[in-house]
Amino acid sequence: MGAKLIIKEDQILDLKRRMAEHKKKPGPLMPSLHDAQSIFGCVPLEVQKIIADELGESIAKINGVVTFYSRFTIEPVGKHTVSVCLGTACYVKGSQTVLDELSNVLGIKPGETTEDGLFTLSACRCIGACGLSPAMTIDGQVTAQATPAIARKALEALIAEEKGNK
Ligand code: FES
Repeated sequence: MGAKLIIKEDQILDLKRRMAEHKKKPGPLMPSLHDAQSIFGCVPLEVQKIIADELGESIAKINGVVTFYSRFTIEPVGKHTVSVCLGTACYVKGSQTVLDELSNVLGIKPGETTEDGLFTLSACRCIGACGLSPAMTIDGQVTAQATPAIARKALEALIAEEKGNK
């Protein structure tokens, strides 16, 4: 289950205002999606529909673009992003077991965000750190030679830190 996103009326107006500018130039879709991602923190279906209406495009086309580019997300992204590389070099060294372990610790599947909005788990393609495989990142920081035990420890330390912040 993912974190709930509340879309506010003034955010929609902000998006529409920015889109009015983009529509004056060729190729308004990508800048509109970037704006939506930054305003809402993601581009859920509800927002895709607004963009489709504004641009006179089908929602299927907008959805296709959103799901194609990893920089756009359909669900809100958590405060911390935890990502495991499933590129070939990492995969053959067991990165799937690392991802499974993190999934168990967080109780979510890759692509989801914890209900408290703290963690988003994802699988990614090669991040250019094949020499460190299997590689995972927490908030962009690479952990080299990640094992399920190392990954669990790193994540539990962050969870404990978050609890301490409450
Ligand atoms: S395959 Fe994982 S970093 Fe290249």
